[in-house]
Amino acid sequence: MGIISAESMLNKAFQNGYAVGQFNINNLEWTKAILLVAEELKSPVILGVSEGAGKYMTGYKTVVAMVNAMIESLNISVPVAVHLDHGTYEGAKKALDAGFKSIMFDGSHYPIAENIEKTKELVAICKKMGVSIEAEVGAIGGEEDGVTGNGELADPEECKTIASLGVSILAAGIGNIHGKYPANWKGLNFEVLRAIKAKVNETPLVLHGGSGIPDHMVKEAISLGVAKINVNTECQVVFAEATRKYIEAGKDLESKGFDPRKLLAPGTEAIKQVVREKMILFGSVNQA
Ligand code: 13P
Repeated sequence: MGIISAESMLNKAFQNGYAVGQFNINNLEWTKAILLVAEELKSPVILGVSEGAGKYMTGYKTVVAMVNAMIESLNISVPVAVHLDHGTYEGAKKALDAGFKSIMFDGSHYPIAENIEKTKELVAICKKMGVSIEAEVGAIGGEEDGVTGNGELADPEECKTIASLGVSILAAGIGNIHGKYPANWKGLNFEVLRAIKAKVNETPLVLHGGSGIPDHMVKEAISLGVAKINVNTECQVVFAEATRKYIEAGKDLESKGFDPRKLLAPGTEAIKQVVREKMILFGSVNQA
């Protein structure tokens, strides 16, 4: 079938009280690992592509071609979306031109009037093209691809305004942070999440910074309308750890252990395990 819009998989998740994982990809190994686990667990899946990762993979067209070809060659039957993660206004247009069927426009760093204006324009374009669109209110804390947010708590009224523009899904800051959570992190702010949910009503919400949030908080967030959870750092950390272990054990020096297909195998397996655990936690298993 090839890549699709994320709209129907996320509406289904929202209505049935589970969340679909967005796992960010960086290369072929990442993509293959995530697709294979999604198929194994019969789970819908979203492959997140940041602008930096898109550039690294030589452009959005390469990403679309790679994922579509892999869906065919690996016989992937579950719904797969490729989603631009934290897209700029220009980046969103480029991703649409390259065939993305799902994008995020992150206008959270603009004054709200400008965020509204740009989101509105992109919503109109996406609606015409049958593409799902995520918008953001209240920057997500931490650092991602050089973009730094301060971990704001989103204003529920602003969430209502942006949601009413017709976005498919809405990312709202509720104390979540990209990257590793500091030891003194206060946790997700469910009071704010409840207030946002009451205002946006039927718009599914997105939880960014999905790495390292305690399981009970993830479940509570899902019960309050979160239907998409983004995970990146955890996959990166386990990939690096497994690769380091392989090298520190001197495996690359044994026989043909330097072959990249062998060298990258432990890291790839480690990513698979994280994806499995998250899909089970998010409740998306057997929901394809
Ligand atoms: P983490 O890297 O913290 O998992 O966050 C991922 C994310 O939110 C991508 O948008």
